[in-house]
Amino acid sequence: METFDTIRTRRSIRRFAPTPLPDDAVRRILEAGRHSGSSMNEQPWTFLATRDRATLAALATVGDHAGHLAGAALGVAIVTPPLDPEGWLMFDVGQAATQMMLAAWAEGIGSCIASVYRHDDARRILGLPADRTVDCLLSFGYSAEPPRPPRAGGRQPFDRVVRWERW
Ligand SMILES: Cc1cc2nc3c(=O)[nH]c(=O)nc-3n(C[C@H](O)[C@H](O)[C@H](O)COP(=O)(O)O)c2cc1C
Repeated sequence: METFDTIRTRRSIRRFAPTPLPDDAVRRILEAGRHSGSSMNEQPWTFLATRDRATLAALATVGDHAGHLAGAALGVAIVTPPLDPEGWLMFDVGQAATQMMLAAWAEGIGSCIASVYRHDDARRILGLPADRTVDCLLSFGYSAEPPRPPRAGGRQPFDRVVRWERW
């Protein structure tokens, strides 16, 4: 898929077919995250990937809107050091997440973010060491639903979000 079309058409997918993902596609998704830029090239992440059904079901409980992980073919936890409110950590996480989701969409694989609300539960499920945490989980899989328009009726019009030269 052409890059702009990938960006323009990507939608969050929350219901997945039981079909497993090919290993090479999983590898490309994770490589897309690895190639992300990050502040000072610190690459503050580990991508903890799981295809284990029990782990995915458990991860589906760590956020109030994380249920989509239960049916995913692949879950990826973006594991980082604890968040620094002054720093760029979440921006870096967002970039890696976006690159993985777009790489997946470009080859017909859907995905969705899940925000972690219960961090200790997520840390326990994934066996994270004391100096690591996770705020962003991603589910991946072939879609079991047609892409839905995003909530609140799609994106704002171009002329509302773009201004030229001065405010
Ligand atoms: C920072 C962030 C957190 C999100 N957290 C969740 C979440 O916990 N559960 C979920 O189902 N979707 C989550 N989403 C997906 C958004 O709901 C979705 O991107 C938005 O509604 C636009 O829809 P689209 O991705 O289909 O264009 C999150 C997205 C972002 C960027």
